[in-house]
Amino acid sequence: MTQLKREICDSICSVICLVLPIFSVGVDSWYLAKLSSVGSISDEETCERLRGLIQRQVQICKRSVEVMDAVRRGAQLAIDECQFQFRNRRWNCSTLETMPVFGKIVTQGTREAAFVYAISAASVAFAVTRACSSGELEKCGCDRNVHGVSSEGFQWSGCSDNIAYGVAFSQSFIDIRERSKGQSPSKALMNLHNNEAGRKAILSHMRVECKCHGVSGSCEVKTCWKAMPPFRKVGNVIKEKFDGATEVEQRKVGTTKVLVPRNSQFKPHTDEDLVYLDPSPDFCDHDPRTPGMLGTAGRQCNRTSKAIDGCELMCCGRGFQTEEVEVVDRCSCKFHWCCYVKCKQCRKMVEMHTCR
Ligand SMILES: *[C@@H]1O[C@H](CO)[C@@H](O)[C@H](O)[C@H]1NC(C)=O
Ligand SMILES: *[C@@H]1O[C@H](CO)[C@@H](O)[C@H](O)[C@H]1NC(C)=O
Repeated sequence: MTQLKREICDSICSVICLVLPIFSVGVDSWYLAKLSSVGSISDEETCERLRGLIQRQVQICKRSVEVMDAVRRGAQLAIDECQFQFRNRRWNCSTLETMPVFGKIVTQGTREAAFVYAISAASVAFAVTRACSSGELEKCGCDRNVHGVSSEGFQWSGCSDNIAYGVAFSQSFIDIRERSKGQSPSKALMNLHNNEAGRKAILSHMRVECKCHGVSGSCEVKTCWKAMPPFRKVGNVIKEKFDGATEVEQRKVGTTKVLVPRNSQFKPHTDEDLVYLDPSPDFCDHDPRTPGMLGTAGRQCNRTSKAIDGCELMCCGRGFQTEEVEVVDRCSCKFHWCCYVKCKQCRKMVEMHTCR
């Protein structure tokens, strides 16, 4: 990573910095780190080289190097999910260049920042839990506390997702930034709240998954385990919380500082809601002075939609261009016995609208 990028990173990123450095070390060195880790990864040096981590995170990294690859995967999950959830909005969660830095948007106390913090904290908890269940970590495995026969009469398999471990890791590794940093106390409160809300999106949507055993799936014996929801579900939940996020301000109650709704008519937010301090910019125009502020020129829009993906709102009233483009689709699909589907390729012209 060049010095300049590093500086941009250090100055603008906050939560994502904790994953950024892992990326920016480059795939190669992680590849090497992993190779050299066959057996045990005592490669504490790698932790020192992860730019952007604060000292206390470096310590955690050193203590749990084996978990760090799951953290890296979690980071990628967060970015992919954010871009999916925001694909039709003016701010589309684009990252800067090759770096997974969401730009300055995220360092402000906006609703978008709330989403990014929540999805990041959730993704790290999710990926670490997944890694525990898959048996790739020495420090954790399945949650075997759920065992025996359930009240419904099925057998617990003894390998439930160890969400407690993933959540605890996310709390220690991610939240520590807010607890250590010399940033405004209200923003730290906001970030901590949203981190926790993100993790709650997993915790409150745990499900029971089962498998049947017996002659040709007769289900004489059923074993079940507690499983996390798919990450898409977590993303959907957090996106809903984004849509209904509460604007808050800091208030002093006794000696403690708390966040309360700015509008006292609103009912107080719960642990699962997202909160934000600052209104969002309109995201209409490119602003070279604000990293991540790309503007909506060139974005595709929907001519008939009245929602934010519609050309009127997406293009901020600047108008749009229409061109005919050819798309290739699968069509006239036929099912063949047995078992495959054969389709023709159809070409058709569709109108594509792009913001001016
Ligand atoms: C987001 O929009 C910008 C244009 O504003 C575009 O350059 C970028 O590719 C988009 N990113 C994603 C992830 O869709
Ligand atoms: C455009 O918006 C309309 C109305 O919301 C919707 O029915 C249609 O599927 C959208 N088209 C595309 C290409 O997304």
